[in-house]
Amino acid sequence: MVIAAKMREFGERSSWIRKMFEAGAILKAQYGAENVFDFSLGNPDLPPPPKFAEVLREVAGQTGPGRHGYMANSGYPPVREKVAARISGEQGMAITGDSVLMTCGAAGGLNVIMKSILDPGDEVIIIAPFFVEYHFYVDNHGGAAKVVASADDFSLDLNAIKAAINVRTKAIIINSPNNPTGQIYSAAELAALGELLVAAGREHGKTIFMVADEPYRKIVYDGYEVPGVFPAYRNSIVVSSWSKDLSLPGERIGYIAVHPDCEERDALLGAMTLANRILGFVNAPALMQRVVGELQDVSVDCSIYARRREIFCGILEEAGYDFLPPKGAFYLFPKSPLADDVEFVALLQEEKILAVPGRGFGMPGYFRLAFCVEDDVIARSAPGFVKAMAAAKAKC
Ligand SMILES: Cc1ncc(COP(=O)(O)O)c(C=O)c1O
Repeated sequence: MVIAAKMREFGERSSWIRKMFEAGAILKAQYGAENVFDFSLGNPDLPPPPKFAEVLREVAGQTGPGRHGYMANSGYPPVREKVAARISGEQGMAITGDSVLMTCGAAGGLNVIMKSILDPGDEVIIIAPFFVEYHFYVDNHGGAAKVVASADDFSLDLNAIKAAINVRTKAIIINSPNNPTGQIYSAAELAALGELLVAAGREHGKTIFMVADEPYRKIVYDGYEVPGVFPAYRNSIVVSSWSKDLSLPGERIGYIAVHPDCEERDALLGAMTLANRILGFVNAPALMQRVVGELQDVSVDCSIYARRREIFCGILEEAGYDFLPPKGAFYLFPKSPLADDVEFVALLQEEKILAVPGRGFGMPGYFRLAFCVEDDVIARSAPGFVKAMAAAKAKC
């Protein structure tokens, strides 16, 4: 074997999405892509807003020295200022550009954070169900992910988090709006988590970071708002991107913002700037930085996702599935009618419906459906959901 044992193991662990992709490719070849209902991938299908193309053309046409050169590893200062102004509104606390670092997507940002704060053996709490890559990002930098299940309604289980904290705990990653549940943590929950981290930090004589991963912040429904984490806790770090709200995941553009009163803020920002460079990113893409700087108040048309959510919830309700309507993001995470979520996902596949088993997100007994597909695909999948439910009942 030429590849590292750990990468073999990682390949196995991340295999659920790959398995769905492979199963989907076979079904699509057999029945035609239009007859397969693929809800497996969280790849936004909406085009970026029209303003994106306008700004991109304008920015691409600008000439001048250094336009395509290396820059400060933290990004262009004017862009960081513009991003900081928007974050100040979202987080309910004024921050300046020097608290912001431009990154290669939220994924790049999370790796920069972990590289900057983790010593070997440090633990990072992640909440199940989780974005599967968190495990890898923590491991990349010598840490160990410690999984804590969320409460039944996918809110934070503060008692379980408290029980999981120990002297090795360095951070907790929270994700709101959540992939895969669509849950949004309330201001009260965040404040309670902040209090818990203050007490735990005091008890263990250390700083424990709250890392808020927020790429779905602008994709919300029914008037829900995403409370900021900065007012809840001083040692908090926000990481996000324009992958979902501007539909730009392939452009790899995101950012980190550090609480203005974070302990050793300057040292932390310095470490993150260095991490951005030495992890191989060097800096976030120059052209995209200049583009997103002009698009702080722009996002995709969320009413399209809202409409799809309505259609999908109606179909699942009608077919008798047990689920909580998502408050944000573009996923549904229903309970599997069979105890074995993999077995149920196989029943869905018989109806040419592709979903991802909950165990891929650390929560067996559920399955995830991504609704970044055309309304028509969702609508046409309805009979399949009814049949899969009937088949599951027949097995019980
Ligand atoms: C919860 C969550 N965090 C981070 C990411 C990574 O985002 P990006 O493409 O900006 O790196 C994703 C992507 O799907 C995600 O769902």
